[in-house]
Amino acid sequence: MALLEIRDLHARIGDAEILHGINLTMDRGEVHAIMGPNGSGKSTLSYVLSGRDGYEVTQGDILMDGESVLEMEADERARLGMFLAFQYPVELPGVSGMAFLRAAVNARRKEQGLDEVDQLGFVKLARSVAKNLGVGDEMLKRAVNVGFSGGEKKRYEILQMALLEPSLAVLDETDSGLDVDALKIVSDGVNAQRGDNCGMLVITHYQRLLDHIVPDYVHILAGGQIVKTGDKTLALEVEKNGYAGIHNAA
Ligand SMILES: Nc1ncnc2c1ncn2[C@@H]1O[C@H](COP(=O)(O)OP(=O)(O)O)[C@@H](O)[C@H]1O
Ligand SMILES: [Mg+2]
Repeated sequence: MALLEIRDLHARIGDAEILHGINLTMDRGEVHAIMGPNGSGKSTLSYVLSGRDGYEVTQGDILMDGESVLEMEADERARLGMFLAFQYPVELPGVSGMAFLRAAVNARRKEQGLDEVDQLGFVKLARSVAKNLGVGDEMLKRAVNVGFSGGEKKRYEILQMALLEPSLAVLDETDSGLDVDALKIVSDGVNAQRGDNCGMLVITHYQRLLDHIVPDYVHILAGGQIVKTGDKTLALEVEKNGYAGIHNAA
């Protein structure tokens, strides 16, 4: 059974329909990239998948392991193993990063029928995972995302992902605001997470990220629809000819 199945998905924000019938099926172990020009609906798709308020699905369905998630709140989807890294991560002043991460990890563990990790055990776990990702201890002590640079926020999200071990990770424009070193850390983190238990949807405007995270499939989103699907060479085609060529051909 597919890990993720998006069926004829139509969605709107307020009165405006943004997604006009998206179809995508992803199995465990696969990495799918979604590319598209600005305003094509990439971020909207990630928000709709996450179950964010204000985004209304008007037609179609989203299934995880064959089960529709449309009626589930965002936190329920997260406990089931859906992880979203947003283009613009929110700052949570006053919320300790360690407490935040531990609560998220324990909510997920509980759903999986595993014991919760205690504070001390979690600090150890978080430090070792952080170290592997090049995230400083100092960042762990701060409030969630507060005062983080763009690159730091992205690293922090990769840290969350590594700790949560999601079955479905959706990464929106994880390359924006990253310098070359940070790009490498993020893509190494993503590649480490890759495996038979996890499927990944990597949403990006640029081909650059896909040099480091080589996708199994590339989908081009334009005007709220997938206009073309191919393998990794499609990303190179976009790099060479731009989106206009592909859209016109479609
Ligand atoms: N909150 C909103 N209200 C109304 N329209 C929106 C809102 N957010 C995004 N849009 C519109 O939806 C379309 C898709 O935006 P978005 O999903 O952010 O595209 P992308 O991430 O591909 O750049 C754009 O036309 C944008 O103006
Ligand atoms: Mg976007």
